[in-house]
Amino acid sequence: MKITVLTLFPEMYEGFLNASIISRIMKKGLAEIKVVNIRDYSFDKHHHVDDTPYGGGAGMLMKVDVVHRALLDNISNDYTYAILTSPKARPLKQEDLVRLSKLDEFVIICGHYEGIDHRIEKYVDEKVSIGDYILTGGELPSMVIIDGILRLLEEGIAPESLKEESFNEGLLEYPQYTRPVEYNGDRVPDVLQNGNHKEIARYNLKMALKETMLNRPDLLEKRDFSKLERELLNEILQEM
Ligand SMILES: C[S@@+](CC[C@H](N)C(=O)[O-])C[C@H]1O[C@@H](n2cnc3c(N)ncnc32)[C@H](O)[C@@H]1O
Repeated sequence: MKITVLTLFPEMYEGFLNASIISRIMKKGLAEIKVVNIRDYSFDKHHHVDDTPYGGGAGMLMKVDVVHRALLDNISNDYTYAILTSPKARPLKQEDLVRLSKLDEFVIICGHYEGIDHRIEKYVDEKVSIGDYILTGGELPSMVIIDGILRLLEEGIAPESLKEESFNEGLLEYPQYTRPVEYNGDRVPDVLQNGNHKEIARYNLKMALKETMLNRPDLLEKRDFSKLERELLNEILQEM
């Protein structure tokens, strides 16, 4: 997978690309990430990348001609997918990351200041928001998108870790524990220590249902519960 990030602040990516799982995925050759400075595509004397908005209003807008030039110079062909980070989109979901992880190549454009001249939208395939709030720039959103996609790449991380993640089966992940077995009076549930895989799987499903019910009941609204899940829900309700 080839990813190109267009940004005014390339230095923000240094730590992100050189640490932990992301750097490992890149070292394995599963992804190539290029960070491009949009300012390199401003050809006036002072390398201006922004200007005041027509009609007034606070702040500065990034110029469409500069950003479009950067985009055109960094797409290999007509099929290179272009993503614009923007709060004006439906918030990103895990299923979007799964869809985007199937792309061979894409470019992410990071806005900054008051954003980018609206006309840039004509040249992108998709706008992606990471949530209903406003950040100073698209750099963190682009890292969120890249991080979420890279960890889905085959061999990037163990497939078992992906299978049991929150959202994968429409449920939040069940609570997990590691040593010590007791901490400040809180013990790891006995069932997780007994080695009975069937009992453990049942318990974990029950805890995933409970976790979802308590934290994200909206995820259960349209769920088609299996017979076992209904039985477990009843148990949870009785125990509460
Ligand atoms: C300060 S924001 C611009 C906000 C814009 N004036 C508005 O009200 O919609 C600057 C840039 O940060 C990025 N950004 C901010 N919040 C975002 C979010 N929730 N998701 C994705 N990108 C975001 C976008 O690239 C945006 O162009």
